[in-house]
Amino acid sequence: MARAPQAPAVVLVGFMGAGKSAVGREVAARLCIPFLDTDEAIAAAAGPIPEIFASLGEGGFRALEAEIVVRELGALSREPKVLALGGGAVLARDVRDALRLVEHVVWLTAPVEELWRRISADEGEERPLARDEQAFTALLAAREALYRDVATLVVDTSDRDAARIASELVAALSDSEARGASARASSAPEEGAA
Ligand code: S3P
Repeated sequence: MARAPQAPAVVLVGFMGAGKSAVGREVAARLCIPFLDTDEAIAAAAGPIPEIFASLGEGGFRALEAEIVVRELGALSREPKVLALGGGAVLARDVRDALRLVEHVVWLTAPVEELWRRISADEGEERPLARDEQAFTALLAAREALYRDVATLVVDTSDRDAARIASELVAALSDSEARGASARASSAPEEGAA
């Protein structure tokens, strides 16, 4: 009997305000697989992120973040999920190495003015590294090469809501899965061939 195709794991990376959590939830719902925001996993393990920054400093937060993110990335081969990574998770080499083993790593982008606007309007979450627009802009510039390095797909999130972006993303992923499957099929030896 044919096996039901299993949805692939998808990891969303990108700067603060890129919409990783909102888009991630919508993508997971469409693929019928669980969603995990690694910032929430960190907060569940060690308390609110601003408090971790205050007590352990950014270095302490990064060590904790790398440990939890690498563990969650490793678990994807057992259970596919959609993971949304905090904006700075790609700073850790261990995280970047683990990302190279994931089939779909999507970099969500938007112009920095748009990212700052979204962050400033978000009253829910305090972000220790988003207190000043100039520093925010410089931080994005310093990180862009890291996002580019790990991404298998880049999606601009300007001018569309999370549901629309998720639908486009799922369509792009299924195209790429189909292309991958047909590439594998055409390179596989024919059944019965000696
Ligand atoms: C950070 C991004 C935040 C959070 C922390 C640090 C960063 O996550 O991990 O405040 O360094 O870019 P989001 O990208 O989900 O806002």
